Amino acid sequence: MLQQIVKEITESLPSLVKAVFSAPRGSDLPRRIVLEKGEKMGESLFFVEETRENKAFHRNLTEDEALSFLRETVEACAFRQINLFTSEKEIAFRISKKGKVSRSVNTLSVPVTVKASHNKEKNYLIREGEAVPFLVDLGVFTREYKVVHAKYDKFRQINRFIEILDHAFSDFDKDEVRVLDFGCGKSYLTFFVYYYFSHIRKKRVHIIGYDLKADVVAHCNELAKKYGYHGLSFVVADVTRDTLSSDPIDFVISLHACDVATDFALNFALERDVPYIFSVPCCQHEIGQKIGKGEGDLDLFLEHGLFKERLCALLTDAMRTKILEAEGYRVEVLEFVDFAHSPKNIMLRAKRTGHKKKSLAPLFELEARYGFTQTLLHLREEKQ
Ligand SMILES: C[S@@+](CC[C@H](N)C(=O)[O-])C[C@H]1O[C@@H](n2cnc3c(N)ncnc32)[C@H](O)[C@@H]1O
Repeated sequence: MLQQIVKEITESLPSLVKAVFSAPRGSDLPRRIVLEKGEKMGESLFFVEETRENKAFHRNLTEDEALSFLRETVEACAFRQINLFTSEKEIAFRISKKGKVSRSVNTLSVPVTVKASHNKEKNYLIREGEAVPFLVDLGVFTREYKVVHAKYDKFRQINRFIEILDHAFSDFDKDEVRVLDFGCGKSYLTFFVYYYFSHIRKKRVHIIGYDLKADVVAHCNELAKKYGYHGLSFVVADVTRDTLSSDPIDFVISLHACDVATDFALNFALERDVPYIFSVPCCQHEIGQKIGKGEGDLDLFLEHGLFKERLCALLTDAMRTKILEAEGYRVEVLEFVDFAHSPKNIMLRAKRTGHKKKSLAPLFELEARYGFTQTLLHLREEKQ
């Protein structure tokens, strides 16, 4: 029966746009392999992303190489789930422990397209030139729907955010989506996410964006009203202390929510067992304010300001990751956009598994040794 899959791959290769291998049979295998058809410098290629231990590795294959790779991977029977996509349909194979193969075919409501280039900018879910009027009001598009030059980085970041969200979304089967955005600011992301779920994914959407700034929040509410975006609202709130929504939430998102505001976003998600978290932290100042030498390996990084600043930012996010893992989330740490476009480019993408496994004790020891505090750790300590 594996030969049947190989045959189907070989026959469908000209129209194959994507193949996904998941549910590996061994812990030494990648957790997921995605091949996507694309084009680079006029050459037809497959872009391969292998995810191992929460890190993504990339390479490109020619069509012949991709075919050999696909055949070998199927024949090795290393993955229990194989999904093939042409532009209109998805063919899913599930291979049982005993090697029995089940096959199903779904027609896609949103066609999968060939990547124009390996350059992600050309593969945006919301493209330059698309008539998205709220982007004009937000100052991202000109009236001709061209990206305003000064907003190009923001446009790139938000499209990338949505692209990452879109990957996770394949697991999501509810008709209604509830999202909270912590530190939404001018709400470029919040509007994009609303548009993505309501217009592209055709879901009923409820999104609340929280921010400290009353004038910005009022403007965003006016825009949501202007476009008849029911279910999109903005609330003035300090997320570190105000009472937030008590409704069930599917996604917590935060993009550059300053310093400990990110910790409160993550804590909210942990408290409420939110299934998905997408958080791009920034301004991780807290640890840097107190950290001191502790007669350990980290001392090496504390002698020069630049090393210290980067260490503290990374330490903050590494601790947040450990805490999320300890509390039952599978976390992937992604480079969200190129460092050149934004140095605040690490995303924590977390999915709730419910398997609470690790102790927080080593993190408390680290804190005590180097004399700093980390807000999420202490918020979680209060709950234990
Ligand atoms: C750098 S901006 C990012 C805005 C937006 N997410 C984006 O990426 O365009 C950070 C925002 O977080 C908000 N913020 C910071 N601390 C906050 C808090 N404790 N509660 C609510 N909002 C907060 C700020 O007012 C600001 O608008």
